[in-house]
Amino acid sequence: MRTTNLERHDPSPREWRRRAEDIEAPRPRSELPVRVRFRAQRDAEPLMDLASRVFPPARFGKGFLGSEEILRRHLAWFPEGQWVAERADGRLVGASMCLRVDLGEALAPHTRHQLMESCFHDGEQPWGNALYGVGLMVEPAYQGKGIGRFLVQVQVEMGRVLGCRAFLWGARMAGLHKQENLTAQAYLDRVRLGLTWDPSLGPMLAMGFQVLGLLERYTVDPDALGYGTLLHRTL
Ligand SMILES: CC(C)(COP(=O)(O)OP(=O)(O)OC[C@H]1O[C@@H](n2cnc3c(N)ncnc32)[C@H](O)[C@@H]1OP(=O)(O)O)[C@@H](O)C(=O)NCCC(=O)NCCS
Repeated sequence: MRTTNLERHDPSPREWRRRAEDIEAPRPRSELPVRVRFRAQRDAEPLMDLASRVFPPARFGKGFLGSEEILRRHLAWFPEGQWVAERADGRLVGASMCLRVDLGEALAPHTRHQLMESCFHDGEQPWGNALYGVGLMVEPAYQGKGIGRFLVQVQVEMGRVLGCRAFLWGARMAGLHKQENLTAQAYLDRVRLGLTWDPSLGPMLAMGFQVLGLLERYTVDPDALGYGTLLHRTL
């Protein structure tokens, strides 16, 4: 349930942007000339281009990350949760997207589509005591250089400024489709214990997220066979 207490602590967008200037996010460890900034409406097309390089439509289908329309709605509704990483020449090389949710509600079984569509209502201010990550991607040639961690750390700092208690994530298991003899749960256990490296879930665990459980029929992700992994990190 919404509480007046939460609402009272929500900064206005202008106030939040002022506070955001004080966020001390770590630099990418490779010292790449990459900066992280809020996503803007003008980024819609480059963002979809980036998404199609990270999630080729031939394998993932068109608009795997979300339609341009819903990404635009998220930006209008919760701009504080939408970030991009760009090179000095302005080319986007990374993006992260999160929404604001009620922790108790987000712990119930859900699909990514339900989460993307239904956690906000037009005309309402974002509220809720948790962040929920719905997208994190880095240009393939730039992966493994600290940009993903950089984007997540900025979201973490932002969540703390907003007074959120937790950061949930519906993460992928990109290597699941290569496992012929393991169930999704067995594969997840191996990744969690550090016995197998998963290129998507591995970085999230390295960033301090912990596994809460499997989400069945979470996405249409062919690599993860439709499964998602619900992750949690205290803010
Ligand atoms: C998953 C993804 C966003 C991570 O971003 P990234 O910029 O490549 O990750 P980073 O370089 O910031 O690495 C984050 C952590 O994972 C570790 N890591 C990354 N790749 C690794 C590898 N191949 N082996 C071991 N550790 C690795 C890093 O060491 C780092 O931990 P550290 O800072 O403690 O050293 C990125 O690889 C990607 O876009 N993948 C495809 C899209 C996708 O699957 N997104 C969904 C994520 S749920």
